[in-house]
Amino acid sequence: MQDLRLYAVARRRRGMTSAPSVENLLKVARVAGVARLLGKSMALAYRLVGKDKYDNFRLERVYDSPFLVTPSVFNPKVPRTGMFLAAQIQARTVQRDWDVLDMGTGSGVCAVFAAKHARRVVAVDINPAAVRCACINALMNHMEHRIDIRHGDLFAPVRGERFDLILFNPPFVKGAPRDDRDRAWRSNDVAERFAAGLRLHLKPGGSALVVLSTYGDGHTFLEEFAKQELETSVLAQRRFVNERLTVFRLRLGPGSAATPAASP
Ligand SMILES: C[S@@+](CC[C@H](N)C(=O)[O-])C[C@H]1O[C@@H](n2cnc3c(N)ncnc32)[C@H](O)[C@@H]1O
Repeated sequence: MQDLRLYAVARRRRGMTSAPSVENLLKVARVAGVARLLGKSMALAYRLVGKDKYDNFRLERVYDSPFLVTPSVFNPKVPRTGMFLAAQIQARTVQRDWDVLDMGTGSGVCAVFAAKHARRVVAVDINPAAVRCACINALMNHMEHRIDIRHGDLFAPVRGERFDLILFNPPFVKGAPRDDRDRAWRSNDVAERFAAGLRLHLKPGGSALVVLSTYGDGHTFLEEFAKQELETSVLAQRRFVNERLTVFRLRLGPGSAATPAASP
């Protein structure tokens, strides 16, 4: 069902207004059922090989760059969202004179990739363990002079600042987080607060890249972006065995013109 909803919203965002045929919807539903089963098997396999453990130190390589993932911090490679978003951060998407915000930086993976191209990156996370982990990875990748890592809730640490590009791999399961580690997955209100904050923190002409999965409640983010009249398009999409990942590009629409920066 989640898959059907994200599929339908993504079609609308891409301007595909004609109704999908019943056959197509049934096909998507069948694929979604198989994907759910595969997802469960993969979760079991991760448990058997210990990949579900977030309380260990793990050294990961994301493309050519090393990342130490410390306890309680989201691993950009185990669910593939972090790595998939990092793959989109290239010279064609980030310009040399840009200021970039990496929201919910986790291990700092997207901040490090953005710092390879941009003038300056601000990275924010609410989990203190993630802030420490991102500092280690900025140093390990020789990017500490370009990345400013801050602790806090969404846009609070960047009050009054605007960016050319905002990156976010958000917690896209609806619900109250059980602890700091769980904040990587679950939230009750991040979708609406992030969508509302974009208007105050994007420079005119700026954009945001947000990765969502057919696993979870990604459609709530798309609904909030629509409420804020943000223009949404698909930058990249990839189907994996158990989910489809999409990187959406968001721009301020005519109804959401930039207003003076005064954070909520
Ligand atoms: C799915 S993880 C993504 C981590 C990293 N960007 C990546 O792609 O691998 C989401 C991150 O957002 C952070 N987060 C959740 N709620 C937040 C909030 N209200 N303010 C700032 N960061 C938040 C979590 O602590 C977590 O590190």
